[in-house]
Amino acid sequence: MHYVVSGGAGFIGSHLSEALASSGHDVTIIDDLSTGKEEYLSSILTNPHVTCIRDTVQDVISLARHCEGADGIFHLAAMVSVPGSIEYPLRSHEATLTGTLNVLLAARDCGIRKVVHASSAAVYGNLPGLPKREDMPVDPLSPYAVAKYAGEQYCRVFSALYGVETASLRYFNVFGPRQDPRSDYAAVIPRFIARIRAGESPLIFGNGMQTRDFVYVKDVAKANIQVMEAKSQGVFNIASGRETSVNDLAAILLDLFNVKFEPEYYPERPGEVTRSVADISLARQAFGYHPQFSLRDGLSETISHMQSA
Ligand SMILES: NC(=O)c1ccc[n+]([C@@H]2O[C@H](COP(=O)([O-])OP(=O)(O)OC[C@H]3O[C@@H](n4cnc5c(N)ncnc54)[C@H](O)[C@@H]3O)[C@@H](O)[C@H]2O)c1
Repeated sequence: MHYVVSGGAGFIGSHLSEALASSGHDVTIIDDLSTGKEEYLSSILTNPHVTCIRDTVQDVISLARHCEGADGIFHLAAMVSVPGSIEYPLRSHEATLTGTLNVLLAARDCGIRKVVHASSAAVYGNLPGLPKREDMPVDPLSPYAVAKYAGEQYCRVFSALYGVETASLRYFNVFGPRQDPRSDYAAVIPRFIARIRAGESPLIFGNGMQTRDFVYVKDVAKANIQVMEAKSQGVFNIASGRETSVNDLAAILLDLFNVKFEPEYYPERPGEVTRSVADISLARQAFGYHPQFSLRDGLSETISHMQSA
């Protein structure tokens, strides 16, 4: 198959592009390299089936040209920052929502079968009710989350009106090699690792009892490919389905490094979500999603990668 990956030079997109290339697909990566890096693709750039195009998804005409003849588009390009979207809402709208609309238009006009859209657990906001199920109410609290939710709605409408198959994957806290420690998602993991490697104790905001649903990036890449290959459409949570406290995360990392620091505690950050965990049964039933990596295994692979980098 020939697949387009927008945002394919980013953290998650580069793992997805590697997985597609290693399965023998033709891959066209479209990335403006605003946060992505060509070096993330070093293992596949010389593969004759992989093309990397430095361009923006904000130009619908060039986008359609790059997508001509493709079987599917994985759309991951976005301005991936909640605080950035609050500071620059128009920029967030153009990169994330206009980008999604352009991808759907290109798919419609080029006769591409399916678009898989990277959405986010941010659409759930801070409403009570756990684990999060896809049919629960949403409460986007930032321009970033609004753009993701509106993108899901565009996907639904393009499927109903124009017959482009679509699926939106609501990723929870994705972690793994190449994750930018400054990212808003699961940045706690690369930050803890960086501190421990520097011989310092992890810094925890609040009492450390806040929880997250951490999912390893290779499981996210696999979910994208599974949903692309299946007939499934709609919105799906992509997570581990397990709730882990920040204290437990620190304890696992300290154990993996075999060191005995006491974490340092700082005052809780305002607006922080206290608990997060997903129900992943819909994705399991629809396309056989089943995360393979435990948190410990994913962390140990991430550490090895950082040590060899
Ligand atoms: N990391 C997470 O935990 C997480 C959680 C939920 C959703 N997501 C979503 O997953 C996707 C990938 O996120 P990531 O963590 O890999 O972030 P990332 O910043 O590493 O990847 C985004 C990629 O898109 C590219 N890009 C940005 N604007 C573009 C534009 N206008 N045109 C072309 N390329 C553009 C960037 O250069 C980058 O390579 C994003 O859509 C993000 O919103 C990520």
